[in-house]
Amino acid sequence: MTWLEGSSLLYGAVRLCRNLLLDLRFGAFLGGTIRTTHAGLGAHDVSNSDYRALSYLFANRILQTDVLVDIGCGKGRVLNWWLSLGISNQLIGIELDERVARRTAARLRNFRNVHVVAGDAIERLPVAGTLFYLFNPFTATNLRRLRDKLALLRPLERRLIIIYYNCVDIELFTEDPRWQVERLALPDPRLHPAAVVTRIRLGSGASPPLQPTALGSLPSGR
Ligand SMILES: C[S@@+](CC[C@H](N)C(=O)[O-])C[C@H]1O[C@@H](n2cnc3c(N)ncnc32)[C@H](O)[C@@H]1O
Repeated sequence: MTWLEGSSLLYGAVRLCRNLLLDLRFGAFLGGTIRTTHAGLGAHDVSNSDYRALSYLFANRILQTDVLVDIGCGKGRVLNWWLSLGISNQLIGIELDERVARRTAARLRNFRNVHVVAGDAIERLPVAGTLFYLFNPFTATNLRRLRDKLALLRPLERRLIIIYYNCVDIELFTEDPRWQVERLALPDPRLHPAAVVTRIRLGSGASPPLQPTALGSLPSGR
């Protein structure tokens, strides 16, 4: 075995242990991918964000007033991450695959601030949502529909940001003047590219700057 192979094996093992331990805190190991039964609707497979990525993506980005929405919450690892931060914000997961949604809802039923909705997130967007998370849930065609629906959510009155992980179709936002895109440089090159997309107040500059709070501050060495 070469040094490179050894180091990548070790990386995989550490990553698995970290994910396993935090998953188990919330009732079940979530690892593994489930092939989507909704490819015809443009859905991608049910897979999981890595907790390490989530620790970077949400560090100092959650405000106390935010309503957090995971578009395509799958087995609920992002909901787990938000719960692990000890925040009391409303946490909403929307999942197209009804069986997966039902399992996620059942697992997290004891958390009163968590709501898991089964259905098409583009059709069932929570109007109160302020911070939306996307882990590349569907095709570019669907993302364009989502973008246009999100842009209509009372854009002038309040903040609306999207944290977009594995942002393969980010140009749908960069090409649209309603959105401002900040690409994130995650410190680990093995993680996917990511961006923060902010709804711009047309005519009056960008949304108010984020007010970092203690919520979700960056943990070291997770
Ligand atoms: C890559 S997984 C991400 C799971 C979870 N957000 C995470 O990061 O751990 C994408 C999920 O989006 C779901 N999905 C795809 N299209 C959807 C839609 N229109 N509405 C709701 N969920 C959708 C898929 O079923 C899948 O569970």
